[in-house]
Amino acid sequence: MNATEKIEAGGLRLDNALWLAPLAGVTTPPVREFFAALGAGLTHTEMISCMGLLRDNRKTEGMLRLLPGEDSKCGNPVVLQLFAGDADTMARGAEMALAANARCGPLRFAALGVNMACPMPKVTKRGAGAALMGTETAFAMVRGLKRLGLLVWVKTRRMPDDRETLRFVEGLVEAGADNVCVHGRTAAQRYEGRADRVATAAAAERFPGKISASGDVYTVEDVKEYLNMGCVGVMLARGALANPYLFPLALRALGYRVPEDLTAPARGERIRRLLSLGERARRICGPKTALVLLKRLMAGMFKGMPGASELRRGVGLASNLEELEKLLRLDFTENIG
Ligand SMILES: Cc1cc2nc3c(=O)[nH]c(=O)nc-3n(C[C@H](O)[C@H](O)[C@H](O)COP(=O)(O)O)c2cc1C
Repeated sequence: MNATEKIEAGGLRLDNALWLAPLAGVTTPPVREFFAALGAGLTHTEMISCMGLLRDNRKTEGMLRLLPGEDSKCGNPVVLQLFAGDADTMARGAEMALAANARCGPLRFAALGVNMACPMPKVTKRGAGAALMGTETAFAMVRGLKRLGLLVWVKTRRMPDDRETLRFVEGLVEAGADNVCVHGRTAAQRYEGRADRVATAAAAERFPGKISASGDVYTVEDVKEYLNMGCVGVMLARGALANPYLFPLALRALGYRVPEDLTAPARGERIRRLLSLGERARRICGPKTALVLLKRLMAGMFKGMPGASELRRGVGLASNLEELEKLLRLDFTENIG
């Protein structure tokens, strides 16, 4: 991907302002690699529990893995997304995560990300995620993480009153947050209804260079609208799952030089990319997770293609990775080969 010029955002120099949002259960290393190849300027890890890290939970530690190339210096920066209910657990968990990262080799996270957005009871009942919105604990968390010497990125949501949102964002910025992503839905809305853009626009105007956006990013126009509001970056979430090629399409619309096999991908190119994701996911995460991830991304990859719905139905019924790969290869032979 030939970028016209690098951008500065949240203390980082990035290829572009289109980022893959944190998606629990999805933004595993192979999926991040998949979206980075489509042009994502930055990605996030899954949501990692600081409590889990402190309990020496091996599964949690496994979520810290970075793949070759996943380092700001190599061009694919990854934000480590953490959650905790108090500042001390957050700081200790982050320290453990960074120590584990250092033991694994030279690749480094681009920033420490704090989840102050998740509305799910299993997270909020521990005082974490969206339960931190508007609290002093949130500010203490940011101050504590800044002491570790890394950039701190916070992802949060709109609050019911827009003035409250601005006050909260102000407190986060004063505490040292390098980037605050505002998702324009309240915690009560969870993932439903429209994402309001007014509070995000107001925050972007008041804190220039510090605010990124999330919520209802499905089209090139959505991306442009957030950037025109003054947001330094836009996080693609369900829009990226619904159409992974939204990354290259939006990048081209923003003036980047993007290869044609990404902006007008042929069926064979889509299948090749999916098979390659399946192969990488199998090696890195194991066949069960690979099946889940592939199913998650299938529908979007074939949107609008002839026979897409039959293929989708077949894929939905596949009970293991081999069956699914067979279907994809068969489609390739029948339609291309
Ligand atoms: C499956 C799924 C997992 C998500 N996981 C996270 C997460 O771990 N951390 C977070 O801050 N937001 C998470 N989100 C929220 C998204 O990052 C994003 O803010 C939200 O979906 C709004 O954007 P959209 O309307 O464009 O999808 C998740 C959303 C979905 C659909």
